[in-house]
Amino acid sequence: MKNSMKGWQASTFAQKVIDYYEQHGRKHLPWQGTRDAYKIWLSEIMLQQTQVATVIPYFEKFIQYFPTVEALAEADNELVMHLWSGLGYYSRARNLHKAAKMVIQQFDGQFPQTTQQLEQLPGVGRSTAGAIAAFAYQQPTAILDGNVKRVLARCYAIQGWPGNGQVLKELWSRAEQNTPSKSTDKYNQAMMDLGAMVCTRTKPKCDICPLATKCLAHQHNIIDQCPGKKPKKARPSQSTYWLIYIRDGKVLLEKRPPSGIWGGLWSFPEKEQITDLEVSHELEPILHKFSHYDLHIQPLLVDNSPHINNSLQINESNNNDWFELQRLADIGLPAPVSKLLQQLASQ
Ligand code: ADE
Ligand code: SF4
Repeated sequence: MKNSMKGWQASTFAQKVIDYYEQHGRKHLPWQGTRDAYKIWLSEIMLQQTQVATVIPYFEKFIQYFPTVEALAEADNELVMHLWSGLGYYSRARNLHKAAKMVIQQFDGQFPQTTQQLEQLPGVGRSTAGAIAAFAYQQPTAILDGNVKRVLARCYAIQGWPGNGQVLKELWSRAEQNTPSKSTDKYNQAMMDLGAMVCTRTKPKCDICPLATKCLAHQHNIIDQCPGKKPKKARPSQSTYWLIYIRDGKVLLEKRPPSGIWGGLWSFPEKEQITDLEVSHELEPILHKFSHYDLHIQPLLVDNSPHINNSLQINESNNNDWFELQRLADIGLPAPVSKLLQQLASQ
């Protein structure tokens, strides 16, 4: 009972997708209506990371210059790269030319027919191999390109990031589970079209989506969480030294430039690197959290007795000034500067 239910569910999923293809799918693209694996492969490589409308003129130009895989294999690499220019991701063009030569030399000029062989061609991964096998050879092979990942992640409310191995495995398993053994080419084309035109990254058109009644993300209102985004890198951090000069009860402060952090406020003179630590005394380090990064501050009480001549010697200029530690003037001070000044004043 359970198994037949599962089968029934998978087939209705596929049936809805195939019905969508019959009614709305793209059927007249220049690489459709052919069983020529070379043309299908060429189109699939071009369509990786590039939209259909952009690909069409490039595809037609390539087929004009190189009507067969032999023609492409024999072509001058400069010409291949030239005809590709503007399409971007140029490793695709290098791999394309290499793969054409490989078809001639290692597959006797016969375009490979199994996904396993197809995947040996440079630039052809599991999804592209599945697409070529389904479109050119009517094999029941699953695909999982970026668009299809999004559709499946939403239908099954998969919230992890597809770059994660476990998440990718789950997506492939959903892809395999739903791929029908008949009309696989229509199903695969429709899944790509759904992802490109209906289940778009932002503002998906759920009201016209054939999968809306099955889609868990739609039902639970978590579409924007499926699939998950790449985890953010650790917060960036920077570090700096604050140089504290005190003389006759006065402290040297520096007016910060008008833009940037603490723009226009008064702070201690700063240095990113210090070589003469021996002429100073390290105070308690401070961690200051900005919204976008952490600032690690090492305050240094500098020994500025007149006989010392070192890289930390006082550098008076027109953007710094001496202020009474015990009676601080009404000047703008960043919170951590103010706090440290109070500590210094109470010592
Ligand atoms: N993206 C990758 N392959 C595609 C195809 N065959 N149709 C539309 N978009 C695609
Ligand atoms: Fe995507 Fe909406 Fe369709 Fe779900 S119902 S697959 S979110 S378009």
